[in-house]
Amino acid sequence: MIKEIIKVNVKVGRVDALTVRSDLLAVGVFSQGRDGALCKELDARLGGAIGKVRELGDFKGKVGTTALLYGNEEIGARRVLLVGLGERKKADVAGLRRAAICAAGKAVELKAASCVLALHADLAAGKFDAATLGQVLCEGACFGAYRYDEFVTETEDGRSDQLNITIAEPDGARSRKLAKGARVGDVIGQAQNFARTIMNRPANVINPPSLAAIAKQLAKETPGLTCTVLDEKQIKARKMGGLTAVGQGSANKPRLIVRKYTPAGKGAAGGKTVGLVGKAITFDSGGISIKPAARMHDMKFDKSGGVAVLGAMKAISGLKPRGEVYGIIPSAENMPGGMSYRPGDIITTYSGKTVEIQNTDAEGRMILCDAIHHAVKLECDVIVDIATLTGACVVALGEGLAGVMSHNDKLVERIKAAAESSGEKVWRLPCGEEYLEQMKSKIADLKNIGGKWAGACTAAAFLGEFAGDVDWAHIDMAGAGMVDGEKKYGCPGSIGFGVRLLTTFVMNSSTGRKKGS
Ligand code: BES
Ligand code: MN
Ligand code: ZN
Repeated sequence: MIKEIIKVNVKVGRVDALTVRSDLLAVGVFSQGRDGALCKELDARLGGAIGKVRELGDFKGKVGTTALLYGNEEIGARRVLLVGLGERKKADVAGLRRAAICAAGKAVELKAASCVLALHADLAAGKFDAATLGQVLCEGACFGAYRYDEFVTETEDGRSDQLNITIAEPDGARSRKLAKGARVGDVIGQAQNFARTIMNRPANVINPPSLAAIAKQLAKETPGLTCTVLDEKQIKARKMGGLTAVGQGSANKPRLIVRKYTPAGKGAAGGKTVGLVGKAITFDSGGISIKPAARMHDMKFDKSGGVAVLGAMKAISGLKPRGEVYGIIPSAENMPGGMSYRPGDIITTYSGKTVEIQNTDAEGRMILCDAIHHAVKLECDVIVDIATLTGACVVALGEGLAGVMSHNDKLVERIKAAAESSGEKVWRLPCGEEYLEQMKSKIADLKNIGGKWAGACTAAAFLGEFAGDVDWAHIDMAGAGMVDGEKKYGCPGSIGFGVRLLTTFVMNSSTGRKKGS
């Protein structure tokens, strides 16, 4: 279905990094602190070349930097990539993931067919869990090798279709642990790249019906996953007024995509039912309250929350948590036209609450409120929604972090924990009474915009009204969803934010308490 961008195969090999044959060997180098055994031995075999690059100041071992050297008869690799790990005493898994991203990215750039990763070799063995190392190396390798070029008919000098990556680990017991983690990392990494491709596709390719078709196809290929889709007539018949209103201005009609993961076997459905809800506006022109032209093309990324949920569901079905998970994706195209909803309209949402529209560009909350209510009706025990919801969130937190809002401190802590281990960062913002106050209308229950300030918080307060008594949190990924990966990762386009975060959140939740206990 998707043209495979670059096929990345990652495995753990019980090999010696120094002697194994490859096009590229990636080793980790610290900016401060003593060098490890591998780095020292490699330097010796390369006749002091590592010492020299450092001496000249060409490479300092900082995170996100690399230096390329060439192999000789003393080692098995044709090239050696020094990859910065930062200060030894501050080394963490996020830095290692970043190093793997750099290494795989460079391997693609060099058109290497085989790459050996020995990035972890000089880390203090006692400090890091081997399975975690395997996972982040694999996630990073997949992420770094990704390129979005399916519409480029002429590539300057071609690229390889496949990259074989070996995580080198001579120790047997440790290599088994690394391999266990690498399997998890592979599932997550591939799911994230799948999501990036869908996110990157333009709005003339991805619209609500074509997105729904992809979701259905994926469910067909995936055991344990089902997918049902409501079309515009069914959406209207069910009185999902928000999704209907936003979708009515476009020739590409809205869809409600509902995917369900059901655990199989013993202990199945023991955990709580998690509902992941993701905004999938396939293009946000603003509607009648039309946006300015500058960077409007970025609004193809307004589907990123929904696609992150799609990607997470793909990963979840591969990792098989204990509890049920719903992925609920309301999808519409927000366009101006004779059929569009208007400022001033009063919409009756699926929940029965009425909303006065004051700006058709605040459309995300209008589709999410129906989807959140749907999650409540499906009896989810916890609902997490994710959306490129407000420019205000980007103003508040920038492009790297997503905002997380909830009335439930414990749920926020769980999302923060998932952010910490997945490396997809969040920062809590408030969404209490003072913000809800601004969302009250004089002629309806709510209005769809608040005052001038704290737009991310007022939007969240609005959404919270539709979760009823269910534990709910909202993730505003407007910054990370629109950010161009080129700046930080050297790969233009989407970074697939949310797939790792949501998957990790669900996997952590699955070890929680049983239903009813
Ligand atoms: N999709 C946008 C939010 C957005 C804007 C994400 C810029 C990333 C970058 C959303 O639908 C929107 O238009 N929000 C408005 C809300 C306003 C009208 C209350 C915004 O943030 O300007
Ligand atoms: Mn908008
Ligand atoms: Zn939008």
